[in-house]
Amino acid sequence: MNKLDPKNLPRHLAVIMDGNGRWAKQRMLRRIVGHQKGVETVRVIVEECSRLGIGYLTLFAFSAENWLRPKTEVKALMALLKQYIRGETVRMMQNDIRFNVIGNRQDLPEDVNAEIENAIRKTSGNRGMLLTLALSYGSRQEMVAAARTLARDAAAGKIDPEEIDENAFSGSLFTAGIPDPDLLIRTSGEMRISNFLLWQLAYTELYFTDVNWPDFDRNELARAFRDYQSRERRFGKTSEQLGQDQP
Ligand code: FPP
Repeated sequence: MNKLDPKNLPRHLAVIMDGNGRWAKQRMLRRIVGHQKGVETVRVIVEECSRLGIGYLTLFAFSAENWLRPKTEVKALMALLKQYIRGETVRMMQNDIRFNVIGNRQDLPEDVNAEIENAIRKTSGNRGMLLTLALSYGSRQEMVAAARTLARDAAAGKIDPEEIDENAFSGSLFTAGIPDPDLLIRTSGEMRISNFLLWQLAYTELYFTDVNWPDFDRNELARAFRDYQSRERRFGKTSEQLGQDQP
């Protein structure tokens, strides 16, 4: 197998962590056991990305639509999240990781928000990888909110509507200041974007694997990176043009 080129890794990796439920079902276990195993994978992948020098890692941990799941599952996921954030802050400090959340924070239980606040504050001085969890996140909702903010600013005379361009729009999203993802990984064989970073994924390379999230490991991550390294990113240009000036 080809070796990984450490100079051609994605600067920003985004992941849709899917298949916890199926992983559990295949083993006649409760869905929550799949989520627990999924958290272990999160730990491994965060650590590995940080070790490899990935600048930004964004994980889809809970969608705006996931609130519709059975109450017991939502409750268990929130408990896992709280436990994860509390438990990982020390390791984030050791690995120089900065913690961040995108999504509708006001929907989350107060105790989860308190842990988030604490982790963001403690890790704010770190300069290594930015770890972003998407929680109660929906991309359409994010874009509607951005349009509303810009419309409000225009109505208040703070900005000229003609000044609203791609940069201004990007800057009004939760991901303001974060470069767009270079690679998106989705596990468990589903080939959908599921309302995740719709604007930000415009030129992102997409990688789908049949492996369920609890079984995704360092080797699977390396496989995804090798595949990424075999792609030619043209950003609308021709191959010949790319030889002359890399975007
Ligand atoms: C998809 O599996 C996964 C989720 C809805 C949530 C992802 C959550 C975790 C990995 C655990 C908590 C996260 C952190 C960061 C501590 P699914 O339940 O949709 O699986 P299925 O499609 O097989 O049912």
